[in-house]
Amino acid sequence: MAIARRKFDAVIVGAGGAGMRAALQLSTAGLKVAVLSKVFPTRSHTVAAQGGIAAALGNVTEDNWHWHMYDTVKGSDYLGDQDAIEFMCRQASEVVYELEHYGMPFDRLENGKIYQRPFGGQSQNFGGAQATRSCAAADRTGHAMLHTLYQRNVQANTQFFVEWMALDLIRDQEGDVCGVTALDIETGEVMVLQARATLFATGGGARIFSASTNAFINTGDGLAMSARAGIPLEDMEFWQFHPTGVYGVGVLISEAVRGEGGYLLNKDGERFMERYAPHAKDLASRDVVSRALTTEIKEGRGCGRDADHLLLKLDHLGEDVIKTRLPGIREISMKFAHADPIHEPIPVVPTAHYMMGGIPTNFHGQVVAPYKTGPEEVVPGFYAVGECACVSVHGGNRLGTNSLLDILVFGRAAGNQIIEDLKKNQHHKHLPPDASDQALARLDRLNNQKDGENVAQVGDLLRKTMHTYCGVFRFSDMLREGVTRIGEVAERAKHIEIRDKSRVFNTARVEALELENLVEVAIATMISAEARTESRGAHARDDFPVRDDDKWLKHTLYFREGRRLDYKPVRLKPLTVESFTPQARTY
Ligand code: FUM
Repeated sequence: MAIARRKFDAVIVGAGGAGMRAALQLSTAGLKVAVLSKVFPTRSHTVAAQGGIAAALGNVTEDNWHWHMYDTVKGSDYLGDQDAIEFMCRQASEVVYELEHYGMPFDRLENGKIYQRPFGGQSQNFGGAQATRSCAAADRTGHAMLHTLYQRNVQANTQFFVEWMALDLIRDQEGDVCGVTALDIETGEVMVLQARATLFATGGGARIFSASTNAFINTGDGLAMSARAGIPLEDMEFWQFHPTGVYGVGVLISEAVRGEGGYLLNKDGERFMERYAPHAKDLASRDVVSRALTTEIKEGRGCGRDADHLLLKLDHLGEDVIKTRLPGIREISMKFAHADPIHEPIPVVPTAHYMMGGIPTNFHGQVVAPYKTGPEEVVPGFYAVGECACVSVHGGNRLGTNSLLDILVFGRAAGNQIIEDLKKNQHHKHLPPDASDQALARLDRLNNQKDGENVAQVGDLLRKTMHTYCGVFRFSDMLREGVTRIGEVAERAKHIEIRDKSRVFNTARVEALELENLVEVAIATMISAEARTESRGAHARDDFPVRDDDKWLKHTLYFREGRRLDYKPVRLKPLTVESFTPQARTY
């Protein structure tokens, strides 16, 4: 079959904040840029980010980037790469002011400066008093950011492919990346998008869990495409459970609620975080708070008829604060929990939220992986930023509002790196003759499967398996069994059938392709989690409850071929300052 081809200087997969920040850099430099998105760009998952962007502006309390760096390293449970963390925290103020100048409608303090609020795990003076570091537009910061970046991209002539799904990465015989195959969801057309630079900004994959704050589109597509193309996935055992998803539905209730002074209660009306984190209380790091909630429920102090959730109280903040600083939270709570937080608490549970692992990159956004058969190096033509990438600035646990910062800093950095690289690489690489074979074979198999498995059923089983066997607390026998169970799910997923075979706006086809991607992410997660016999950050093992720096201060690399693992050292040396050496982590 003849496949249409189009050529661009850069193809970006994903139109969230990371993809759009990179695209803006490239289009402004005059490059021909295509951005592919499964949804209209302003519906990308960044739109759901609520609480803010971390940057040590010091508008409310004294602050500086080095304190922010300390908090991020500690928050990562020392698994974060300190060169990348220094790079990110140093650039934070600059990228926030840049965004302000792009037109971002931040909330304002009385003096006109950007409004900042406290968030978990943020301190002054290397672990001292609570810092006030998250720059916010009410509780819709991601929404405001995404619209700002979209408008700037339209102005800069970025070309959007709306409702297109990337299918597979194209690598030539050398292993260099020269574009992607993609599906036009509306027409069913498959196209090759050839590029001198291919950037993945495909977001996360927390849809592998049954309760998730993530949008339905967050199916780990970029990770699965990379894994299929022979790129390892880094630190896949580290998934963040946000402490406050709406009970029963999972929609995010921002940590901004606790930043503004809200707090958690158990069935006895006890402010239980005082027991788990005497200093930071409800603003301890997320892994700590999520474990505390899970423990309260396990030990019978949960609320409601089934004692299976906790309560988030904020009525004491007053109607004015709730309506001006947390209007979206009030709306979500009323819609999904039928509770108006002006008068009553919100029922919440820990909910899968963020993937700390991903496609391995350096802090210029270049994908770094074993290349050909040799050691790890930059993969020519391939870049990744945002949640799908593992830089690694979040290590074992991300701090709230460091994700919007990550996408701004590394989106811009990757854009700059691509501009430099393309000055040296003026010509497109030759496409391999089999450029589209893998994608077409996948589609053919799905089209031709008869009497196969039901996509929704296999998807449900996958999500339940991940939630049951690889949740907030992990157990060795459960993880071992989880590896077997998820392997069985993967076998069943090989035989999924698309029941509605029409090619036009065939969402069943997209769901089947997404399930294949979820399977890749889930297997990588379970295998990586089973192997790490320590507790670090969000990876909490019942049988190995303490962090083991002698054995495990290292990153995991999962290789799809052979489902094997390898490890690489954590980069403990920052760029200019002294290392933060691993310490006991208390809040
Ligand atoms: O709680 C929140 O507003 C989420 C922020 C984040 O994940 O960074």
